[in-house]
Amino acid sequence: MKFSAAFTFLLLAGTTNAFVNKQFTSPSFPGCTTSTELAARKPFMTGNWKLNPQTKAEAVDLARGIVDSIGEDSPSDVGLFVPFPFLETVQNIAGDKLIVGAEMITPEMKGAFTGGVSPTMLKSIGIEWALAGHSERRTINGESDEDINAQCKLLVENDMNVVLCIGETLEEFEKSLVDAVCEIQLKKGLEGISADQMSAVTIAYEPVWAIGTGKVATPEIAQSVHESIRQILDKMYGSSVSESTRILYGGSVSPDSVDGLLAQPDIDGGLVGGASLDATSFGRIINFETVDVMA
Ligand code: PGA
Repeated sequence: MKFSAAFTFLLLAGTTNAFVNKQFTSPSFPGCTTSTELAARKPFMTGNWKLNPQTKAEAVDLARGIVDSIGEDSPSDVGLFVPFPFLETVQNIAGDKLIVGAEMITPEMKGAFTGGVSPTMLKSIGIEWALAGHSERRTINGESDEDINAQCKLLVENDMNVVLCIGETLEEFEKSLVDAVCEIQLKKGLEGISADQMSAVTIAYEPVWAIGTGKVATPEIAQSVHESIRQILDKMYGSSVSESTRILYGGSVSPDSVDGLLAQPDIDGGLVGGASLDATSFGRIINFETVDVMA
């Protein structure tokens, strides 16, 4: 089956707010046979700039290049998670063509937390999205599942959106612990978040061994994990949440790998590090080509 048909349908279905997970309500498209195809999850391509680029001038150039690559009929919603000093500048360049988010928050609202950034501060400059649980924050900054849960809860309680990142290490992958690790990180990260609040949550599956290594998971491996994640969400929240939640793949996504990944029924977009620092590469990822997976 050509997934291009499903994607055409969801574009025609018309999301009024492109940046909020939408629930599918009218499964009448004859080409669709599975619930995931019917869910009308518009692909969501997000860039994670991390500690890059080094100057505001470079951030402006990069953001302008990315915005220019988003056409009127873009096959993807687009988001950029950028360093705090560039948020407002990139937001001004982005207009309503893409969402701009922070790479993290401090799970506190105010007080003696030197270096902290709260949801209220972000909202006051028009930022309504943030990442939580990126593996670099887990390993380099020692953030625990409890810390990440506190960030997720604070974001959704303050009417913001969160991309919760989960994923296993190489050792866990080699020991076939992928599903177990994802289940623990999902359940701990989302503890206390209600089914209603899940409309503000996007999941990013990022195998740690694939991040920044050039070793992208095969579409088949990534699809199998995404399917498991959706099943876990189904057990936690029921099918309407599991079918409407977008699950992104992250880990060395490139112009070469994006088409095969996005052809998978449970892969709803990407969280892209290195390739989002080059407007041409990220533009190709945003404008991925649909692939006939049955060919
Ligand atoms: P990468 O990073 O695309 O450079 O592997 C992905 C991420 O860390 O989100």
